[in-house]
Amino acid sequence: MGDKDGSSEVRLVRVGIVTVSDRASRGEYEDRGGPAVREYLAEVLVTPWEAETRIIPDEVDLIRATLVELVDDLGCCLVITTGGTGPSPRDVTPEATAAVIEKELAGFGEAMRAVSRPHVPTAILSRQVAGVRGGGLIINLPGSPKAVRECLDAVFAAVPDCVDLIGGPYLETDRERVEAYRPH
Ligand code: MTE
Repeated sequence: MGDKDGSSEVRLVRVGIVTVSDRASRGEYEDRGGPAVREYLAEVLVTPWEAETRIIPDEVDLIRATLVELVDDLGCCLVITTGGTGPSPRDVTPEATAAVIEKELAGFGEAMRAVSRPHVPTAILSRQVAGVRGGGLIINLPGSPKAVRECLDAVFAAVPDCVDLIGGPYLETDRERVEAYRPH
C-alpha cells in the first residue's frame, strides 16, 4: 500500500465497520452487528488488519459523512456497514451509500439476497447495496448478526480481487474459510 507521507512505516490494512442503528447509537441496545462483522473478518482475513469502528444513528448525512471519512481520510480499503437496509422510514443506509459510491456493484446485493432467501423469507426486504468509492469497497449488510455471517459468506471470495482492482492492498484469506478468487 502506498504511504502518503512517504515514511517507510508499514501501515496495517484498515477496514471500516459501521453499525447503523438509532437504538445502538443511543446505548439502548447492545450492538451485535458490528462485533459480528469484526469476528467474521478475524476468522477469514490472514493479512494483518485493524478496524475503524463506528456506531451511528440512522441519519443519511451522518452515514454519508462517516463513509467518506473512512475511505477518503482514513484509507479504509473495505468498509462494511450493518443495519438500516430495510423498508422502514428510518432505514437509509442504502441511500447514503448510493450517494457516495462512484460505481455500484449490484452483484453483491443480488448474491446476498439470493443466499439469504432460503434462511428467511424477509431477506427480500433488505435493500443492501455495494460499490466502490476511490480505493474503498463499501458493502451494506443487514443488522442481524446471523445475516452478517450469511451475507459475507456469499460474497467474500470476490472481495480481495475487487480490492486489488481498485488499487488497494493484497488481502489474503484463510482458505479453509473462504478461498479468494483472483482471475486477474
Ligand atoms: N438476511 C439474512 N441473511 N438473514 C436475516 O435474518 N433479515 C432480513 C433481511 N435480510 C435477514 C436478512 C430482515 S427481517 C430485514 S427487515 C432486512 O434484512 C433489513 O434488515 P436491516 O434493516 O437490519 O438492515
